[in-house]
Amino acid sequence: MSVVALVPAAGRGERLGFGIPKALVPVDGVPLLVRAVRGLLAAGCVRHVVVAAPPTDLDTVTAALAEVGAAADVVAGGAERTDSVRLALEFALRTFPDTRVVLVHDAARAFTPPEVVRAVVDAVLGGSPAVIPVLPVADTIKQVDADGVVIATPDRSALRVVQTPQGFDADVLRRAHVTCDGPATDDAGLVERLGVPVSTVAGHPNAMKITTRFDLAVAEAILSRGVG
Ligand code: C5P
Repeated sequence: MSVVALVPAAGRGERLGFGIPKALVPVDGVPLLVRAVRGLLAAGCVRHVVVAAPPTDLDTVTAALAEVGAAADVVAGGAERTDSVRLALEFALRTFPDTRVVLVHDAARAFTPPEVVRAVVDAVLGGSPAVIPVLPVADTIKQVDADGVVIATPDRSALRVVQTPQGFDADVLRRAHVTCDGPATDDAGLVERLGVPVSTVAGHPNAMKITTRFDLAVAEAILSRGVG
């Protein structure tokens, strides 16, 4: 019944403009990565976290995670996000061979409520091979061609915004990475290529991805209201 979480945090992610990897950007003095790992462990069902860090920042990331001690390991990430997940997954399955459920989280979703983590884990333990937290789409979405001309308006009611952690039966995620034929923006996308069904559970607005200075301001507002 072992549940392990992977956190790919090896991107430079310097869009926030702090000159350090995004995962290390602090909100109220605590790096996003540390908040994300704390949130995973606070769910009470995650045994261990494996973080993929930039190879040049292994010591910095390890020091930042010192407070969670033995609950987290740091491995060197790869060239693409998919490589970082694969390297963390290989380490996790080698170190914890009884792992049954693997979560893949994003350090930038540092304020994900523990109940979202539990809902994903429960759904995988309940028999779904792949589970993602989602929210409805509030905006109308257009598909455009290379010139920016609209070519389609998908039915908004059938679209979902995807969050993390994404949860997988460990063997399904391993197979998805072994047969991976190119990078994907999320791990559920790789599992879909196997033809394995991906189910959804309710996400949460606080699980937003912190990408810009505006998002950071929203995160600070979440924190000041005692939600984070
Ligand atoms: O660029 P994007 O925000 O989609 O990256 C998603 C996550 O993947 C980030 O947390 C980033 O640190 C991570 N990543 C990684 N290894 C890479 C590139 C990105 O772990 N080579």
